[in-house]
Amino acid sequence: MAFDLQNSPLLVSELYLAGTFRPATSGKTFPVLNPANGEEVARCADAGAKEVEKAVEAARSAFPRWSSLTAGERADHLKAWHRLILEHAEDLARLLTTEQGKPIREARGEVAYGASFVDWFAAEALRNYGDVIPGHAPGKRITVLRQPVGVVAAITPWNFPVAMVTRKVAPALAAGCPVILKPAEDTPLCALALAKLADEAGLPPGVFQVLPTSDPASVGDPLLASPVVRKLSFTGSTAVGKKLMAAAAPTLKKLSLELGGNAPFIVFPDADLDAAVQGAIASKFRNAGQTCVCANRFYVHEDVYDQFVWEFANAANRLYTGFGDDEDVDVGPLINKAAQDKVTALVDDAVAKGARTECGGYPDDDDLFYFPTVLSNVSTDMRVAHEEIFGPVAPVFKFSTEEEVITQANATPAGLAAYFYGRDQARCWRVAEALEYGMVGINTGMISTAVAPFGGVKESGFGREGSKYGLEEYTVLKYLCWSE
Ligand code: SIN
Repeated sequence: MAFDLQNSPLLVSELYLAGTFRPATSGKTFPVLNPANGEEVARCADAGAKEVEKAVEAARSAFPRWSSLTAGERADHLKAWHRLILEHAEDLARLLTTEQGKPIREARGEVAYGASFVDWFAAEALRNYGDVIPGHAPGKRITVLRQPVGVVAAITPWNFPVAMVTRKVAPALAAGCPVILKPAEDTPLCALALAKLADEAGLPPGVFQVLPTSDPASVGDPLLASPVVRKLSFTGSTAVGKKLMAAAAPTLKKLSLELGGNAPFIVFPDADLDAAVQGAIASKFRNAGQTCVCANRFYVHEDVYDQFVWEFANAANRLYTGFGDDEDVDVGPLINKAAQDKVTALVDDAVAKGARTECGGYPDDDDLFYFPTVLSNVSTDMRVAHEEIFGPVAPVFKFSTEEEVITQANATPAGLAAYFYGRDQARCWRVAEALEYGMVGINTGMISTAVAPFGGVKESGFGREGSKYGLEEYTVLKYLCWSE
């Protein structure tokens, strides 16, 4: 049977506050658009300062009870939520494609990826171990507890409307922290659908709340100003991350900031070129190039440059661009007109300065698509050499020596993900260690998984999501000094 979004129980447009779905106090709503056709999918309740005040109070009063459940009881809640996400996986994927635009096959992958964080942290809740340290003086004993940090504010981006929510909410809940989530204004519906499933799973009121808004500051500012909120976890641009960090300073909140990237993708002369092309396609064109870990700058050794460019452009040319609900589509629309205009301007700048278009190189005039593009003959004076493209465009630079390519790869304030292909083991170790990035893919273009620590260095932020380290972000250490 065809998916009927308007009658789907997962289509919720009211905010989720203190265990109930309700309209905004102001009565205001804002439109959520399908980027494929510009149609209005729903009108969403528009939260503001009043809702933040109530949500903070609900979270504050939920905290003692939630944090004093056993880890096993919290894990059971997460497992029930996980089961419901899997049961509704197809509807969630369809909703995701509708509000975000990504191809349905990728949306299914994101729902599975998102669910895996809930599963993982249900298990990690049980392993929130402390420590026993040999005493420093006769009769002294030292123990260390890991306690929940307190009420958490989570601010999530539009590019992964399911997975970025679960990647923050699941570890926070596992650690014993209530979460107030502000989803991106372009994609609030998946967050609300996840809240609906959490509610059905029996999560107590105030433990997980969702405040969609058309005006990020109206929710973000009071959340950051509140002394009750003890932790902020944010995924988004570096510019916004810096502002949030400044706003969190007066109350000294604990922070996790997963910010912009500018990933290099290096191909050494001994690389398996077919594998490198496949990895390049996967890393560059996932979500139409709109991920923080998408390869942004390709560096290919001069000995294999022409062959790589030729094969890469052929493969990119075969990608099918279209509306996300078509099962065959590989590359969907960009999120909005501003994103399309930015990508167009970056390519136009490169071409004006001498770049050659090997495939693509232009936007769709009627819809928000940008056709998969490979640029050769690129140079460092072009904007694509420095800016995060966030679109399906691959500039391919030529290099001669390992030293030169490491210098170029590291010549950016960003430090999220990097990739390289090559077979020489000694070089693999050298390069992996020399790259100033939080994550390095070696002979792979896909690094994301719930079991590994996701996060960056330098201006890509700090804090780790996923893995055993992801739980630590929501805890604080308390040292107990015992004397006989
Ligand atoms: C992101 O773009 O921030 C997340 C990408 C991922 O989890 O793979």
